[in-house]
Parts: sequence; C-alpha cells; structure tokens
Amino acid sequence: MVAEHVADQITQPKTAQTASGKERHAASLSRTPLDEPVTDWNRQHLLDVDTFSKDEILRVLSTASAMAEVLDRSVARTPALRGVTIFNLFYEASTRTRSSFELAGKILGADVINVSGSGSSVEKGESLVETLNTLSAVGADAVVMRHHASGAPWLAARTIDGHVINAGDGQHAHPTQALLDAYILLQEFGDLSGRKVVIVGDILHSRVARSNLWSLTTLGAEVTLVAPRPLLPSALASGAAEREHPLSLPPVRVESDLDQAIVGADAVMTLRIQNERLRGKLLPSSAEFARRYQLTQERMELAAPDAIVMHPGPMNEGVEIAVDVAHSPQSRIEAQVSAGLAIRMAVLFLLIRGSA
Ligand code: CP
Repeated sequence: MVAEHVADQITQPKTAQTASGKERHAASLSRTPLDEPVTDWNRQHLLDVDTFSKDEILRVLSTASAMAEVLDRSVARTPALRGVTIFNLFYEASTRTRSSFELAGKILGADVINVSGSGSSVEKGESLVETLNTLSAVGADAVVMRHHASGAPWLAARTIDGHVINAGDGQHAHPTQALLDAYILLQEFGDLSGRKVVIVGDILHSRVARSNLWSLTTLGAEVTLVAPRPLLPSALASGAAEREHPLSLPPVRVESDLDQAIVGADAVMTLRIQNERLRGKLLPSSAEFARRYQLTQERMELAAPDAIVMHPGPMNEGVEIAVDVAHSPQSRIEAQVSAGLAIRMAVLFLLIRGSA
C-alpha cells in the first residue's frame, strides 16, 4: 500500500462532506468492512511503533480513515466490538488519551470500564501484576494502560492473555499519539518522503518524541530534534544518534538552535517541559527557555510557507508555544485531538478483530 493511496483515503472525508449520510456510510463500509474478519493484522498488542513496518502504520491510518467516516454519521455507533470488555487502566493523569479511548470503545459497541490509580485497590498497595490478574479474572479482553514506569505495558503483555495497548509509559513510548500525528501529517502532505519535521522542547522526558521518531522516519520524514542539552537523552546530547551506535536509533538530526533548525520545516511539533519528571535537574528558567525555544510567529516565518504547527498537549501557552501560534490557521492541535478518536477506534478494532 503506498502512502499516496492512504493519503487519498485519509483526505476523503473532507470531500465526502457533500455526500448524504447514507452515501458516506456506504463508502466507509466498502473500504474497511467493520463486520468482516480482519485477516491481515497479526499483532496482539500495541506497545510501541518502533517495530512497525510502513505498511502496518498505513493499515492503521487507513482503518482510522474508515472510522472517521463512522464518526461522520448522524448516529456514530457501530457494533464491531459488541460483547468485548475493555479496561482503561490509568496510573497517570490524562485527558485526551483516556477520554478518546473510552469513547472509541463505546462507539465500537464494547463495554468500557475505567480504573485509575486513585480510588482503586492500587491505593491499598496492590501490585500492578495483581491488578492485571484481577482485571483478567473479571473478563478483560483488552487493557489500555498508562503507567509512570517505562516498560510497564510489556510486563502487562506477559501477564494477561488479552490485548494490551500502551497509552503512554513513563518517558518511553506513546504509540497512539505517534499514529495520530502521522495521520495528521499524511492528511496534510500526502507523502512524508523528504518532509522536514522539527520536534522541539523537552525531548528527554517525551514518550511522544520517542515514538514519533520511529513512525516518522519509517514513513520517510527527516526528523530534527531541538532542545537545550539538559533536555536531550544523553546518547543524543553526545551526538551519538548521528553515527551508527548500539542503541540503533533511527537517523535523526539534533540541534540546539531552533532558529537554524526551523528553516524550511514542513511541520513543527512543540513539547512542554515535563516538570513532574524533572527530579531536580538544572534547567534554564522558563523565561530563558521561552526566549530560545518558544515557537513564535516570527520563528514560524522561517519555516516552509505551508508549514503546520503540532502539539500533543497539554500545552503551556506562553512557554513552549506562543498563544497566537497555538490558535493560528497553521495550527493542527485541535485536529490532532480529533484524529485521536479515529486512531484509537482503529487500534482497538484491528487488535481485537485481527487474527492474532
Ligand atoms: N497527548 C496526551 O497524551 O494527552 P493526555 O495526557 O491528555 O492524554
């Protein structure tokens, strides 16, 4: 499947806006029948996108496109996952990911139960493994999991028989965010080969940056990471990622000067400083960080004329991103949130209805 073909599918809902609800419904069913077995998907879990092929990424995105058409119906409901029980197990705060996974499951007809660290037996000292065994014992078919410990979803995948979906683990991976970011970029540009994507901000603590690094380079984009040295992983700060090195990171450029890195960029993704993970690190003041790394309109003028602005949220407007840029016509930040719903529907559908 080539990127252009998928991009056509992804952009179709825009052109389909003139069609009647019935025609749109028919179009979505003709592309990704939601009531037939999924025979070309063999993954049981979504832990990260680092091992995903280009075709696998595009399969998720084209399924999300069909889901976007479901969302466009007057009654956005389908029984594709009727009888399935999904637990949202969130040990860390979330607005976008948690609410969109909950809604995604419900739109697909599944029973969705939310469990969080506070208010559950986790507060009484129950371990993660015991919690997972408990959810399994009450009939979890899938567990969508956010945890502060990097690697926790891999432990979950070894513990339960059902599907595990990583909704963000520590500073390690956030695969559905990377997939929705790829969806937005393909919708915008059609093909990412040679497209320049700049990711700027707190790279060190960003699971979003880590997952995006894999998916964007797999789709052919040229990725530049921009941060002050204390906010870069040590392998990147030392320049090791630009050579072949044991961590086998995909090829990326690393810059400390945003004004240089942004020249000609097709997309600029800004990241907040994750104060909750700083643990006493010495950083420039907020004012100094903003002076050197805030995405301003002046800086956006150095990017390509049709460049877009992205942010995974939550934003600290006035720190990593200027208020006017966050709400400018170039901003795709709200579109990212909306795409998150279709992407999470697609992920639940493929994993649960797939043949793994
Ligand atoms: N982007 C993201 O993961 O947002 P939430 O923390 O609100 O889920």
